[in-house]
Amino acid sequence: MTDTADLLRPHAEQAFADELAALAAVDDRPRPPAWRLSPWAVVTYLLGGTLADGTVVSPKYVGPRRLVEVAVATLATDRALLLLGVPGTAKTWVSEHLAAAVSGRSTLVVQGTSGTGEDAIRYGWNYARLLAEGPTQAAVVPSPVMTAMREASIARVEELTRIPSDVQDALITILSEKSLPVPELGAEVQAAKGFNVIATANDRDRGVNELSSALRRRFNTVVLPLPGTAAEEVDIVTRRVAQLGRALELPPVPAAAEEIARVVTVFRELRSGRTEDGRTAVKTPSGTMSTAEAISVVTSGLALAAHFGDGVLRPADVAAGIVGAVVKDPSSDTVAWTEYLEAVVRERRDWADFYRACREVTA
Ligand SMILES: Nc1ncnc2c1ncn2[C@@H]1O[C@H](COP(=O)(O)OP(=O)(O)O)[C@@H](O)[C@H]1O
Ligand SMILES: [Mg+2]
Repeated sequence: MTDTADLLRPHAEQAFADELAALAAVDDRPRPPAWRLSPWAVVTYLLGGTLADGTVVSPKYVGPRRLVEVAVATLATDRALLLLGVPGTAKTWVSEHLAAAVSGRSTLVVQGTSGTGEDAIRYGWNYARLLAEGPTQAAVVPSPVMTAMREASIARVEELTRIPSDVQDALITILSEKSLPVPELGAEVQAAKGFNVIATANDRDRGVNELSSALRRRFNTVVLPLPGTAAEEVDIVTRRVAQLGRALELPPVPAAAEEIARVVTVFRELRSGRTEDGRTAVKTPSGTMSTAEAISVVTSGLALAAHFGDGVLRPADVAAGIVGAVVKDPSSDTVAWTEYLEAVVRERRDWADFYRACREVTA
């Protein structure tokens, strides 16, 4: 088997196996049926902390504690969890870590798209066997949800509202009856205690395939917010960039703080349509300007700095990435970006290098 360290992107339960084991070892609080950890330990895994034995648990999610507590408590009830928010607010990330901490596996995932069919949520057939033997148990190809029901695990449904409404409804029986009928076999799969579902959905997709009210009633919704302050967002970006840099084995770039703070400022101002001091209105571009995108701009910048630079993250290393993130629609976004450059960036003291670097890569 490939060593976890050689994987391009290990699953949460692989990447943080040591932390999960340390938590399980000190965790003496009651665990819901089939849970690997108590709800308290799951919250500690997500938000970070120092354990009684001195083990430091790294924060995965930076945000309000209460919100994580509500999410975890929901999973211990008979209601499923819906994580809602604009793109890049860590819905997928939180869902993966919750599943890893609660069930020890985050890989039972249905990826929702407009092409997702009922068999992705219920079950399909191995047609060779179906033709040879007729409908038998062995010919059933279970969905991740069916597997989770059998194995007392969390199943994840990504981008629930992208799935056509009639297909979404396949979840209603599963979530209300905790049972998945297989009429062809005259059988059903009943969920074992410990089964639950975490779904994610994008705020901006609202209206695409709205959740039916019958389905919505089966979920507790937790809305993941955008980072409240610039300092919080800098913290998130810095942490994630360091983790990604280690995973990608990029040579370390120690001096990056100043440029990270600037990238975050630019993202926050364009996202909110105001400069940080509140004095100047700026046009918001069509892209999401999410924290996730800021993370990838800085990570690409670090690769440039590490391989072609002098060990310091420079404006020229992030400029192209920022322009790429801002300008999604070449006509309207270029106008918004150029206005921002000339009215805001150019006027700032200490931003002259950054201004020049951006001008160079702006069409
Ligand atoms: N509040 C936060 N705390 C920790 N990481 C965050 C936060 N917000 C965004 N991220 C990071 O942003 C990246 C993308 O998040 P993702 O889960 O794909 O977003 P979504 O599914 O909401 O579109 C992840 O790498 C995640 O670590
Ligand atoms: Mg997502």
